[in-house]
This record gives sequence, C-alpha cells and structure tokens, in this order.
Amino acid sequence: MNICVIGTGYVGLVTGAVFADLGNEIICVDSNEEKVRNLNKGVMPIYEPGLEEMVRRNMSDKRLFFTTSIQNGVEKSELIFIAVGTPPKDNGETDLSQVKQVAGEIAEYINDYKIIINKSTVPVGTGNLVREIVGKNKQKQVDFDVVSNPEFLREGSAIKDTLHPDRIVIGAPSHKVAMKLLELYSTLERPMLITDVPSAEMIKYASNSFLATKISFINAIADICEKVDADVLQVAKGMGWDSRIGPDFLQAGLGYGGSCFPKDTESLFHTAAKYGIDFGLLREVITINEGRVDHFMGTIEGRMGDLSGKVLAMLGLAFKPDTDDLREAKSLELIERFLKKGAVVKTYDPVAMENCKRVYPNLIYCENPYEAAKDADALVIITEWREFKLLNLERIKAIMKQPLVFDGRNIYDPRVKKKLGFEYYGIGR
Ligand code: UDX
Repeated sequence: MNICVIGTGYVGLVTGAVFADLGNEIICVDSNEEKVRNLNKGVMPIYEPGLEEMVRRNMSDKRLFFTTSIQNGVEKSELIFIAVGTPPKDNGETDLSQVKQVAGEIAEYINDYKIIINKSTVPVGTGNLVREIVGKNKQKQVDFDVVSNPEFLREGSAIKDTLHPDRIVIGAPSHKVAMKLLELYSTLERPMLITDVPSAEMIKYASNSFLATKISFINAIADICEKVDADVLQVAKGMGWDSRIGPDFLQAGLGYGGSCFPKDTESLFHTAAKYGIDFGLLREVITINEGRVDHFMGTIEGRMGDLSGKVLAMLGLAFKPDTDDLREAKSLELIERFLKKGAVVKTYDPVAMENCKRVYPNLIYCENPYEAAKDADALVIITEWREFKLLNLERIKAIMKQPLVFDGRNIYDPRVKKKLGFEYYGIGR
C-alpha cells in the first residue's frame, strides 16, 4: 500500500519504519527540515533499539522516504496517518494545534479518495474535528474518511511493540473503511478490535490512565509497607499472581514519567471535567505520582541530614531504561532539588547524558557507574538500567566515601546489600 505518515516523532517514525518493513511504500513527512535532512542520511532523532537498522534497510530498498513536502505525501498515498505531537497545555488540556494544522494541509492537497488515520494520542472527539476541518477546506470535490487507530508502543521496545502488539484498535465510521486497515495489519496476525471512532479514542486514554492507576496504587501501598515493615515487592508479587490483577505495572518506585502517562492522565481528567464529571480517582493517581520525589527526598534527608557539600552519585537519568528520553523524568526533579540543597551531583546514564547536559551542563558527568560512585557519600538509583543491577558492589563499596544506597527503583535485594555491608534504603521495604 502507499502510505503517508505525517510527523516523525516516536510514534510516526517507528510506525513508518515498521510499515515499510512489512512491504508497503511509505512517505514520512515532517516540517522540521533538519530532522528530515538527518533522516535522509540515516541519522535518527531518537535512541530506540533496532530503529536505525530498520530505517536504513528500508531506505536502501526504496520503500521508505523522508520529505518536508506534505503535498507529495498526501497526493501519492491512499492512507494518511497523522502522528504529530499533542503536547499538554498549562491547564492539562491537550494542545491540538499541530493536528489541526495538518488537517488543514491535507485538505489543501487531497486529490482523490483517502483514509485519514489519527495515530497521535488525541482526546475523544478529535476524529470529528479532523473530519470537519478537511471537509470544510478541501479544494477538490473528493471523498475521504477519518479513522482512529491509537498506538500503544512503549519507548525502548517500540519496534517489538509495533510488530507484536497485544491488540490493534481500529475505530472506523464503517465496516468497509475498517477492512482497509485490517488488510494493512493482517500480516501481524494480532487480535484486532473494530469499533467506532470515539470508543477507539477513549480506549487509548483509558488504558494509559489505568496503567498509571496501577503504578500509583502500588506506590501508595509501598508507603504503608515502609511503616509496617512489609516488603512491597512481596506484596506486588502476591497480588500479581491473581490473574484478575496481573503482575505488570506493579513496580513501586519513583513513579511514572515519560511523554505519555503524565500528559494522558491530565488530559483524561480534563476531558471528564469538560463533560461535568469530576474524575477524583484519577486526580488522586496524579497527586500520588507527583509526591514520589518528595517522599524519596524525605528518605534521603532523613538519613543524611543537610545535603550541602555532600557528593551524590546518581545512577540513571532517562525516565526509564532503554531510552535517552528525559521528558518528565524523575531525575530532573531530583537534580533540581539536590542542587538547591547544595549537594554535588555526579551522574552516569548509558545513553541520556547528552540530553541532560543541555539542561544541566554543570553536573559531573562520568564515564561509568564506578567513576560516579568514587568518593560519593551516597549512591542514588534513579533508572533501573540492567547494567546497574549487575554492578560489582564490593568494588563500589571500596571506592565510596561511605556505603550508603538509596534505591529509587528497588533494583537491589536489601539482604544482599546488608550482607555486603551497605546501608540500604529502597522504596516500600
Ligand atoms: C506508555 C504505555 O505503556 C504505552 O502503551 C503508550 O503507548 C505510551 O506510554 P512509555 O511511556 O514508553 O509507554 O513507558 P512505560 O514502560 O509504560 O513506563 C511509563 C512510566 O511508568 C516509566 O516512567 C516507568 O518507570 C513507570 N513505571 C512503569 C513504574 O513506575 N512502575 C511500573 O510498574 C511500570
């Protein structure tokens, strides 16, 4: 199929690459000239395992093209995916200006029947909005349909998630239109839900908000565990073995960050309010998440007292492992607090340090975890990178000023730590 993907952010770029890999001809459009120039040279704007190879392979096989010309993309394609950014406004509402702009441009160049598909995470009702904009502004008397096809990929496993999704959701105005998308996805052989447009739009927000709720729930349980000498890992395991609950997204820690959960929970709360519904449960989920850094700071200062002049070795900066993304990362909040208190921050992250340098150029950036730990008063674990789990702890202990660990992601077993002579503080244990 000839497909145009507008927006080469996380979702657009991965979707474009995977569709090309499945044998389709893809034109990826982005208004950022530098990004397009780089992509045409095979330089990726993001770090994502497997993406660069896939993009390069499909470019050289002439199935994947990058351009700034939306006209070119729209005219040559039967399916047009909108995958532009939908950032939050200050009040939590979703900013749809990029979606509206793209809908206007599609209207300008639409030359034949097209299916326009919203892949960006957009509030319920956006499908209608896109239909109205294109319908009012189209220059030629041609038909089109608007579909909602939300994306559920996670950063760090984006390619795998796109090739093997738990489900594919297609919100279409008619069965005939849905069949076209079904044809595109059929090679993946995954469960597909065909539904109406508003339901598909709601599925995305409801799913992300539910997962965020699981995380905040277990974090609230962790706080109780700390008071009653229980271990939240054991509690989560015992809960997760109940198949009605499931083990995923019950990892207590510093809470959720990234480009989706914080923004999508706020957006759904806002949508509910718009329709006169007070989604108090979701408000509390957000409040619990926002309190995680305070809680961790309380633990650190409770043990260390005044942080002024203390050397803190922060391991991990990215909002989660296998990405260099710092959006809504808990590390940034913590760095801000540590610096305000006068602490010296040494840090190491396998891939996110370059991004962090742009925000905090004056931290001590280290070559590896051992360099960060050298002469540190405490080791502070922020992101659960695999390599941190496998550190030589005896070596770490020998080079630190004192063997003190604050583990914001519960990557270590406190008993092992104690056996090695560390003073250990996890979350909820
Ligand atoms: C999420 C959704 O999972 C994905 O379906 C959607 O398309 C985009 O948003 P992503 O933000 O990439 O994906 O990461 P995810 O792995 O879901 O983690 C989100 C945040 O929750 C991270 O900060 C992570 O550290 C945190 N988290 C996750 C927890 O604190 N505990 C958990 O048990 C799981």
